[in-house]
Amino acid sequence: MFDTLPGFRDFPPEACSRRNHIFRVFRTVARAFDFREFEAPILEPLDLYVEKSGEEIVGQLFHFEDKGDRRVALRPELTPSLARMVAARANSIAKPVKWFNVGEHFRYERPQRGRGRSFYQFNADLLGEPGVLADAELISLLVAILETLGLSESLFSVRLSDRASWVLFLDSLGITEKQRPVVLDAIDKSGRRKPEQTEEALENASPGKGAELLEQVNEIKSIDTMDALAKRLEKCGEAGRSRSSEWSRLLTLLEAHGAGSCIRIDLSIVRGLAYYTGFVYEVFETTGEGRALAGGGRYDHLIGKLSGGPDMPAAGFAIGDMTLSDCLEGNGLLPTYVSAPDLFVVGGNGQEKETLSIVSRVRRAGYSASYSLKQSAFGKQFREAGKSGARYALVIGEEEVAEDSVTIKDLGSGVEKRVASKSLVSKLEGLDEEGGLPGRE
Ligand code: HAM
Repeated sequence: MFDTLPGFRDFPPEACSRRNHIFRVFRTVARAFDFREFEAPILEPLDLYVEKSGEEIVGQLFHFEDKGDRRVALRPELTPSLARMVAARANSIAKPVKWFNVGEHFRYERPQRGRGRSFYQFNADLLGEPGVLADAELISLLVAILETLGLSESLFSVRLSDRASWVLFLDSLGITEKQRPVVLDAIDKSGRRKPEQTEEALENASPGKGAELLEQVNEIKSIDTMDALAKRLEKCGEAGRSRSSEWSRLLTLLEAHGAGSCIRIDLSIVRGLAYYTGFVYEVFETTGEGRALAGGGRYDHLIGKLSGGPDMPAAGFAIGDMTLSDCLEGNGLLPTYVSAPDLFVVGGNGQEKETLSIVSRVRRAGYSASYSLKQSAFGKQFREAGKSGARYALVIGEEEVAEDSVTIKDLGSGVEKRVASKSLVSKLEGLDEEGGLPGRE
């Protein structure tokens, strides 16, 4: 017996139905926001991720050399592929670009609850728009998806932060541009580490200032109101004041979108990925349990970096399927799917040809139809029809063939009706309209 590899999942039909339910909501809500679906390769050149995604992701890559000696990696995230696609079409593409994707990603992480080595993400990105209207559009799409899945605002919160504000704060604390990535990384990891470890990381970034920096960073991290944030930004001069009004505008827009009540200002979020430049956010359950359900933000320099050409404003987020399914399941919000054919066709052993021709006709008309794959007596076939969950059986015996008719039997009530073979589909449509044939899309 072979098991799945650690961190990989099998999806038997029930699990696949649950996954597809979530994917359906992703697609429906994204289309309501006028985003268009796109796809990118699963296997990419390794260099697409090195430097661009940041150390954390590079350390988790599934990579190898292919038979043509190319260094390749399974995609750990979609953002670099998207940036490459848009950069290659930068001059011809209509802006704003509003694209989404539902796809599989791979990271060599330690498998644990909510974290696997293969997982699905819903990505939505909006490129070509520098203003906060775009950030608000994305965050409200994220909130609308979670609400459509049944999560009420009391169950999750979007923790909103800002890399640009952090850059101003770190500048005011004397941190140089070169020291910045290490300090931001220490802040990102600080929630999962002991204070001594964060102090050590800050000390490494700025020798002699570790303890003082930790204190200042903790003070900033504790800011959770717009008033407190505006006061702190005020100390950063004109740039701070201008950032403060961007914050206020974003919060106002999110209110207008109806997404305001689940937004929390939380400066402890800086995001692990290296390319973010502006507003960033992560979604967590309000219980505080579990890893992030989603994360994203603005990344205005990635396109320029990848193409060597001009920058293009960009922002986006991804929702992961694993933490989301756990959260939905924990709140009783995952529907159980009953899968049953619309019709079960029961035929006499001498009427095989006529039986299969009816099966084929109703299938072509859009009904899902099943029949016994064993040659067995009517009684056994009816038992099989009952187990299949179908509401109606279509019966084709000697009499029916002689009369060129079919018997429609309601498997619940036992009521049956013989109809002319040529009018079968219109009779089924009649039942359909009366609500008699559920499940046909
Ligand atoms: P990320 O925060 O690395 O962002 O991932 C987004 C979400 O994917 C996480 O919140 C989590 O739900 C899920 N996820 C990440 N790693 C795993 C894993 N090993 N197992 C299960 N789920 C996981 C990004 O990937 C960015 N590229 C998002 C983005 C799009 N930013 C701009 N546009």
